[in-house]
Amino acid sequence: MTSDTDVTPPTLADLAPVGAATRPPPTVGVAAATAPATAGAAAAATPPATLDARSITAWFGDRKVLDRVSLTMPAGRVTALIGPSGCGKSTFLRILNRMHELVPGAALAGAVLLDDRDLYAPERRITDARRQVGMVFQKPNPFPAMSIYDNVVAGLKLTGTRVTRARRDELVEETLTKAGLWKEVRDRLRQPGGALSGGQQQRLCIARALAVRPRVLLMDEPCSALDPTSTRRIEETIAELAPEVTIVIVTHNMQQAARVSDRCAFFLAAHGTPGVIVEHGPTAALFENPQDQRTHDYVTGRFG
Ligand SMILES: Nc1ncnc2c1ncn2[C@@H]1O[C@H](COP(=O)(O)OP(=O)(O)O)[C@@H](O)[C@H]1O
Ligand SMILES: [Mg+2]
Repeated sequence: MTSDTDVTPPTLADLAPVGAATRPPPTVGVAAATAPATAGAAAAATPPATLDARSITAWFGDRKVLDRVSLTMPAGRVTALIGPSGCGKSTFLRILNRMHELVPGAALAGAVLLDDRDLYAPERRITDARRQVGMVFQKPNPFPAMSIYDNVVAGLKLTGTRVTRARRDELVEETLTKAGLWKEVRDRLRQPGGALSGGQQQRLCIARALAVRPRVLLMDEPCSALDPTSTRRIEETIAELAPEVTIVIVTHNMQQAARVSDRCAFFLAAHGTPGVIVEHGPTAALFENPQDQRTHDYVTGRFG
């Protein structure tokens, strides 16, 4: 029996027409896209952006794992994605910075707009998309043998951003400060990143992500490998960063979602069906007055 109404999954080449249909005219004034990569560009303030996912459907091979998921993640706010394992939260996050397309057999439909500009527009370079939308993973992944200093600036090379030595020093101090790590490492910037504790490594990864001036920072269960003290430090960091960079965080910890997020989206994939958003809205409303019984059951710990 195939009650499946799925059409053949699109290939990545099919993405262009999907995005093109909603693509606004190119705008000027986006530093990374138009200005030469100089110290000035790296220093320029990059305001947080609104990320708008429209009707995202995702496949791995012929298996559909997300079905028409739409979500607006407002600029300068923290949006939490919650829901049981396997409902497509990480896949959704990877679609938001164009990492999904690196997975063999992966396909998607729909559109992602970064301040109304199509993230998948054919003329937009993939490195530019990833620079503007950074990612921090569940397991801290600094380059272990590389120095703390070099870890922070590693992304500049990858994105082809040239900065002067003096500016690099400034950037290292500034981003480590924002990530809440500067005081702990200022006297040992030349030591390897791998020598830090797990919580410090995660903050180093946040600093590394911030150094390329992203407009959105995606965090996939960033505290699930950390002890409670380190978790608190990361949560404080998130609160401090939010006005400057839009944050989207996946978390399994309901208290954490309630503490750190302004808005919350509840994902669910029932009985092998693709993941959908059951309900989303202001975090307090979702927790205190959910509109859907399934949201209620999840946030009160009845399943998942
Ligand atoms: N690389 C992959 N190849 C095939 N299937 C995958 C891959 N990554 C995830 N999936 C499947 O996609 C679904 C959603 O996974 P995921 O996005 O990791 O969910 P979550 O982050 O909510 O736990 C799951 O059924 C998972 O098994
Ligand atoms: Mg996940």
